[in-house]
This record gives sequence, C-alpha cells and structure tokens, in this order.
Amino acid sequence: MGIRKIRTEGDEILRKTSKPVTEMTLRTKALIRDMFDTMYKADGVGLAAPQVGILKRIFVIDCTVDRSLPRVFINPEILETEGEQTGSEGCLSVPGKHATVTRPMKVRVRALDENMEEFTLTLEELEARCVLHENDHLDGILYVDKAEGPVVDNEE
Ligand code: NI
Repeated sequence: MGIRKIRTEGDEILRKTSKPVTEMTLRTKALIRDMFDTMYKADGVGLAAPQVGILKRIFVIDCTVDRSLPRVFINPEILETEGEQTGSEGCLSVPGKHATVTRPMKVRVRALDENMEEFTLTLEELEARCVLHENDHLDGILYVDKAEGPVVDNEE
C-alpha cells in the first residue's frame, strides 16, 4: 500500500494546470497504484493526481459501494455532456464539507488507460459527476468554485 498525503484547499498546487502524460513509466504506474490506495483509504469516490501533489493529467474513480469498479483516466477529454443533475458534492481536498453543485447528468469521455490505450466511455449520474469533478482538478478548479450556496460542514 502506498498512501500519499492529500493536499487540501489553500495549497497552491490544487490551483495549477496539470500536464499531459506522454509515456507510461514505472514511476507513473506506482503513482496510479498509490492514488487508488489513497482514495480507498480516505473513503473517497475519486482522486486526481494534483491532489497528491503531482501535476499530471491523471485521475482515478470508483463510485461503487463495494469498491469493485476502479477506473483510471489519463489525459481525459470530455467529448460531450447531456442533461443536468443537482446534488451534494464533497472533495478529499476540502475535508468534512459539502455543497450543492449542478453538473451534467451524462458525460462522454475519452482517455488513456494504464497501458496508454485509448478508450471512450459514457457515464451517468454519480460516475458522470465524479468524472467532471476530477477532470476539473486537472485544470485547478475545485467544486467550491461551482457551489450553489454555502459550503457547509458535513454535520449540517
Ligand atoms: Ni475533489
């Protein structure tokens, strides 16, 4: 297990634009493995590389309750979005808080997998929200920038 430190809001790295991955290296493979470990340990549904201090265009998600559907996206491109969903959103980099965010209901995304093979996926609901949230991290955007109303503590 490789658990990395999760950067939190206020850390400047979260506001930077990440760079495309040009080749798969052992170091990047280890990063991806550690990102899954770190996301699962923190009980999150997604984690982007800048959140662990690495400015590479990589994020991982697993939106299942039983943690059975890990997905990695490298150099992702949002091809198309459709519809709208309004719901509660949080972020491991803004611990203990949530806010209401409206995002598309459906997203078509193209990316590379851990073997640098291209794939295209259409995702809906929570997975769509998650992909869009994580993709924002690669451009230095946090969900709090898009929050409707206040960002509140999880107890509220
Ligand atoms: Ni986040």
